[in-house]
Amino acid sequence: MKLSEKKATLSFSDGSNPVEFPVYQGTVGPDVVDIRKLYGQTGMFTYDPGFMSTASCESAITYIDGDKGQLLYRGYPIEQLAVNCDFMETSYLLLNGELPNAAQKADFNHQVTYHTMVNEQMQFFLRGFRRDAHPMAIMTGLVGAMAAFYHDSTDITNPEHRHISAIRLIAKMPTLVAMTYKYSQGQPFIYPQNDLSYTGNFLRMMFATPCEDYKVNDVVERALDRIFILHADHEQNASTSTVRLCGSSGTNPFAAIAAGVACLWGPAHGGANEACLNMLEQIQANGGIAKVGEFMEQVKDKESGVRLMGFGHRVYKNYDPRAKLMQETCKEVLTALGLENDPLFKLAMELERIALEDPYFVERKLYPNVDFYSGIVQRAIGIPTSLFTAIFALARTVGWVAQWNEMISDPAYKIGRPRQLFTGDTARDVVEIAKR
Ligand code: CMC
Repeated sequence: MKLSEKKATLSFSDGSNPVEFPVYQGTVGPDVVDIRKLYGQTGMFTYDPGFMSTASCESAITYIDGDKGQLLYRGYPIEQLAVNCDFMETSYLLLNGELPNAAQKADFNHQVTYHTMVNEQMQFFLRGFRRDAHPMAIMTGLVGAMAAFYHDSTDITNPEHRHISAIRLIAKMPTLVAMTYKYSQGQPFIYPQNDLSYTGNFLRMMFATPCEDYKVNDVVERALDRIFILHADHEQNASTSTVRLCGSSGTNPFAAIAAGVACLWGPAHGGANEACLNMLEQIQANGGIAKVGEFMEQVKDKESGVRLMGFGHRVYKNYDPRAKLMQETCKEVLTALGLENDPLFKLAMELERIALEDPYFVERKLYPNVDFYSGIVQRAIGIPTSLFTAIFALARTVGWVAQWNEMISDPAYKIGRPRQLFTGDTARDVVEIAKR
């Protein structure tokens, strides 16, 4: 980061001395006021729950311009990556900063492919869960448990260990998600097959059985690969910040990523794709397009507690570029599978049309986000709703790992330790139980 000539001055109405802070500039985006010395100089903290105005770290991986609706991975627009690259190239880019050439891509593919199998013992761990457990509950456990199965790559000060654990996480997530699905269906696990692509292999592990192999459909494979690309990273979102904070204690990468999986599960974050599809199905069951107006009234009524899932974003105050690409993919997949008249897609388009014209959404700059259409694509592919967030976790793993690695590689990183505005009781004496 570059020191700006500009400085920030904080003054106080009680006449105490103003304090000056340095301002730093990134390559693009808002400058930051460096308030690290604020407490030392004034005895005060800043107060910013929800991080509305706080840059929690310096990063060179992903950039979002929320007003423009722009998303860049290492400088490359998401629209170009989605069309010209596959998920493996995108992963290499996020991890290494540059797109791979053909030899680098082949080498990376090889490394990932040869780490897709999981320790045979992991299935016995998985079998301890109830068959009806939520996939994200299982995934949180399985990813954390990887530290036990792969403890030979948990020395975070060793770059080689960090590399191997990154490859292991990226390679094994599809296997674990597919195993979670198979377990819920009471079907045998399907082992990875090395001559398939990353995404083709995942589809086969999901949908093949020992009695019948699965022929990977090109359109479906490309669509799922695009879902992975679009979800691969998103700068300092809640789960990534969780991974960084958890990892800042020096814990192993599997534990840090498991924390990210747990955070992603929530409906305000990755869980929105599941919640969005459930919402669409519920509107459909209650009368479909004819009832959209009624549903929108509920959404606008703050007392109802109903939100239009898949809409709104903390950073995007314009169309989420991922949602545009996802809508395109949605049309392609539905057409390829002969589902052009899918009622949920029609319903989603109608909800979007009404919302984009409604002053409630216009004034608040609420646009469709990535989750609005991703569920419809996944459902068409045959992925059950309860697995949507696990698919998101699979794709976001590379982003989490890249961000974690960026933090650990920085010699200046410190354990994250926010402070608070304390509003509880001040010191008081314990009264013995009989007198309370
Ligand atoms: N439906 C109805 N009203 C909404 C919605 C929505 N989906 N999103 C925001 N609002 C309203 C909100 O009530 C508030 O209104 P007011 O100013 O009158 O109080 C205003 O818009 C600002 O909302 P906020 O909750 O203060 O904004 P935030 O930045 O804290 O929350 C969000 C962002 C994504 C959590 C929120 O928009 C939301 O809950 N959306 C639905 C869930 C969703 O789709 N999440 C996926 C996000 S993208 C994928 C990912 O990153 O995981």
